[in-house]
Amino acid sequence: MLRLSSVLTTAALVAAIAPSAITSASADHASSPTAASPTAAQPRRHAADPLVIAHRGASGYRPEHTLAAYELAARMGADFIEPDLVSTKDGVLVARHEPEISETTDVADRPEFASRRTTKSIDGRPVTGWFTSDFTLAELKSLRAKERLPELRQESTMWDGRFEVPTFDEVLELRERLTKELGREIGVYPETKHPTFFDEAGLDLEGKLAEAIRKHHLDRGNAPIFIQSFELSNLVELREELDVKAPLVFLVAGGAPYDLVAKGDSRTYRDLIQPASLVELSKTINGIGPEKSLVIPRKADGSLGAPTSLVSDAHAAGLDVHPWTFRAENVFLPVDHRSGAAASDFGRAIDEQVTFLEAGIDGLFTDQADVGVAARAEFLAGR
Ligand code: G3P
Ligand code: CA
Repeated sequence: MLRLSSVLTTAALVAAIAPSAITSASADHASSPTAASPTAAQPRRHAADPLVIAHRGASGYRPEHTLAAYELAARMGADFIEPDLVSTKDGVLVARHEPEISETTDVADRPEFASRRTTKSIDGRPVTGWFTSDFTLAELKSLRAKERLPELRQESTMWDGRFEVPTFDEVLELRERLTKELGREIGVYPETKHPTFFDEAGLDLEGKLAEAIRKHHLDRGNAPIFIQSFELSNLVELREELDVKAPLVFLVAGGAPYDLVAKGDSRTYRDLIQPASLVELSKTINGIGPEKSLVIPRKADGSLGAPTSLVSDAHAAGLDVHPWTFRAENVFLPVDHRSGAAASDFGRAIDEQVTFLEAGIDGLFTDQADVGVAARAEFLAGR
């Protein structure tokens, strides 16, 4: 049995829970999101019922960002499947959480790629491993996905070595097939990962993304899609330069957006979620995706605390709120929501999610889509 005390120290767990954009910058309450913003607020995409967004697919049960993980999530009742997007060397968008792929593929066991191991700077920090930007799509397709958290999610390791790294196009084709088969719209919630890194590598994410969603008839304000990013400049580029009509969501964590850091703009995420800034942002974006403790922080003892004003501030600015990431295993839960001794045991995750839904969120990202669906049903029954 993997106990809570031991799993908390594993590097893999740290990698899994670490958001993609944690950088630091000094506080400065400037209000303009970017240099050139449109003047009218974007329409709010408020759904009738809160959305269940399958974080990296049903990543609590299958290796993340595989077609199998996305398909299982849709069959469990998720409204949206969430591919994180990075680029191959030959400019194809594929679904991985990071440019570096040794945590989620078998690349480190492939002797033919041993010489590709290298160190690159990602958002100002050195990262060593194998990077999608050094692999053609054909080379990447020869790899197989594996479970990121084998100690915690042992059952999912049964699927190691069985699935390819999917292209974004394949994810969109899967979405279309499942929408027809299940008789309900399966949405897609793509995230551009590390846009500044890929820009510096000469690999464009935004143009390819716009091209793909137009090819699949998703570039409409009411299409079943949200485009998300931890960086702000690329959301503005999508809206203003590429004239993307699809809803945009700005992800919020600790630190500061790396695109702003790289430009010497000292605004932090905390600055950007102040009420006046949210109103300014609403001219470009339709929602925010905050790390969940920004909605309901934990107390000093690790139990769940009381909601902040973020949901009401965002709603007042016309923005939806989709926090992340809800995970059912004890190790990820507030201490007062844990059950049993093992870190991998599922605790009272439904209760945690119902509490967040009662705080007014418009959707949630979860690794266990079935748990999210159960929590939403309980919330709606009690509303
Ligand atoms: O996109 C929402 C959430 O997924 C952000 O965290 O690092 O898992 O992509 P990350
Ligand atoms: Ca994501």
